Amino acid sequence: MQTEQVRNIILVGFMGSGKSSVGRALSRRCGWPRVDADDMIVARAGKSIADIFRDSGEDAFRELERTVMKDICEESGRVISGGGGSFVDDENRRIMLDCGTVFYLNASPETLHRRVTGRNTNTPVRPLLAGGDPLERIQELLAQRAPAYAEAHHIIETDELSPAQVAEAILKICGPGLSGLSKNS
Ligand code: S3P
Repeated sequence: MQTEQVRNIILVGFMGSGKSSVGRALSRRCGWPRVDADDMIVARAGKSIADIFRDSGEDAFRELERTVMKDICEESGRVISGGGGSFVDDENRRIMLDCGTVFYLNASPETLHRRVTGRNTNTPVRPLLAGGDPLERIQELLAQRAPAYAEAHHIIETDELSPAQVAEAILKICGPGLSGLSKNS
């Protein structure tokens, strides 16, 4: 069990790994505000992620993602969800590993595929999965990204877990290093 103080809880993982829903569950449990890097990118750009990719390309999106992540990482006591590619970028990964305890939410390509193609109308459009077979694209990108994701401080296998159960597993690992837990935790 980790005993040193946790500065921020940082959730990383592929699209559909549950970063947003787990982030919400964690925020409710520990009382720390949730910060979503993708939401901040959208707010700063004044357009959706799909529109940023379409109008300016992936490199411009990554540049924006780096700026936003640097700003987010100035803070403490936050539950931070990064976009699926944020932890793959070398500079971002270093910043994230330095500013908090990083949890990689792992899931099989089949689980991720099921989650990103679910019927939830709030599901954002994911430009990197557009065109071609989404399951093949997930397998390909996941294989490319695996070495970066493996650098997280902790890995949580999420295939069989609900967001609340993943949050619970994370809180257990943080243990006494996490201040501010609400009474019902
Ligand atoms: C991306 C994941 C998306 C979003 C963008 C790029 C990626 O976030 O940042 O479409 O590179 O994996 P989610 O993981 O929240 O879907």
